[in-house]
Amino acid sequence: MKHKVIYDTDPGIDDAMALVFEALHPDIELLGVTSVFGNAAIETTTRNALYLTSRFAPGVPVARGAAGPLGGNAPTPLPAIHGDDGLGNIEPHLPDGCRADERAASRFIVDTVKAHPGEVTLIAVGPMTNLALALDEEPALASLVKQVIVMGGAFGIGGVMGNVTPAAEANMHGDAQAADRVFGAGWPIVIVGLDVTQRTVMSTDYLAHLRDTGGEPGRFVWDISRHYEVFHRASEGVAGIYVHDALAVAYLLAPQYFQTRNGPVRVLTEGIAAGHTIQKPEGMPVPAPDWDARPACTVCVDVDSDAVLALYRRTLCPI
Ligand code: BDR
Ligand code: CA
Repeated sequence: MKHKVIYDTDPGIDDAMALVFEALHPDIELLGVTSVFGNAAIETTTRNALYLTSRFAPGVPVARGAAGPLGGNAPTPLPAIHGDDGLGNIEPHLPDGCRADERAASRFIVDTVKAHPGEVTLIAVGPMTNLALALDEEPALASLVKQVIVMGGAFGIGGVMGNVTPAAEANMHGDAQAADRVFGAGWPIVIVGLDVTQRTVMSTDYLAHLRDTGGEPGRFVWDISRHYEVFHRASEGVAGIYVHDALAVAYLLAPQYFQTRNGPVRVLTEGIAAGHTIQKPEGMPVPAPDWDARPACTVCVDVDSDAVLALYRRTLCPI
């Protein structure tokens, strides 16, 4: 049976690469895409979600989500990373008549999960605001979702603590309060953080292979990743790009490629380390009430990067 997926996203170049992966993989049924602010303003990420579905997943609904974090204002986007248009400056144009679902993203999530109780996986790769709002709208939501897979956070493995501040990963920093709520909701949740996403790099040669053998999707991934690659080279000294959001999709398809550990996770919501994620390992013998009262989350601590890269390549270049 196919995995039924709602993709909550802030496209974003790596978000778009993950959406292409979801749209093309035969084991995924994309029930909808929900947009959220993050890599660009909500108007831009929603437009991009519509553009991406119109090109690669026609007929899949898009619902517009939060413009800013819970109780906060929309942040200033960072065009240096994802471009002025959020897609590496390819200047996407929507086909005529292409518009978002009338429902807000949180309502769309609640309605869709209720229509398929116990079957839907939420893959969330932007700030967690839509998920937190959906939990508020429907208290039973956590018990109706099959699984939540989040790209976000960093747990210090190999020294990785953050990317937008020394202490915080971008999606957690975008709405730390929402993330802390989502990690405490008591649904089956897997966190795919920088600890594994920064260990998985698509090199220029790898991306060129997608361009040359992956048809229209492969050429698209090449085009949008030009800007991202320049950013990675300049800021991280990386010859290629980190595979952030597509790694959450890879977890859904091939969890055996990942090593994980369990334990409750908290997100710091204030101060200079806001957005910092901390897991109390299960079995740690010291009482810690702020952690112990919370459900366990699964955190990815290692990944077979070559296997993930091969899976992505096989999906775009099946021959
Ligand atoms: C995450 O932040 C965004 O810039 C990316 O799309 C990814 O979801 C990586 O920290
Ligand atoms: Ca993202």
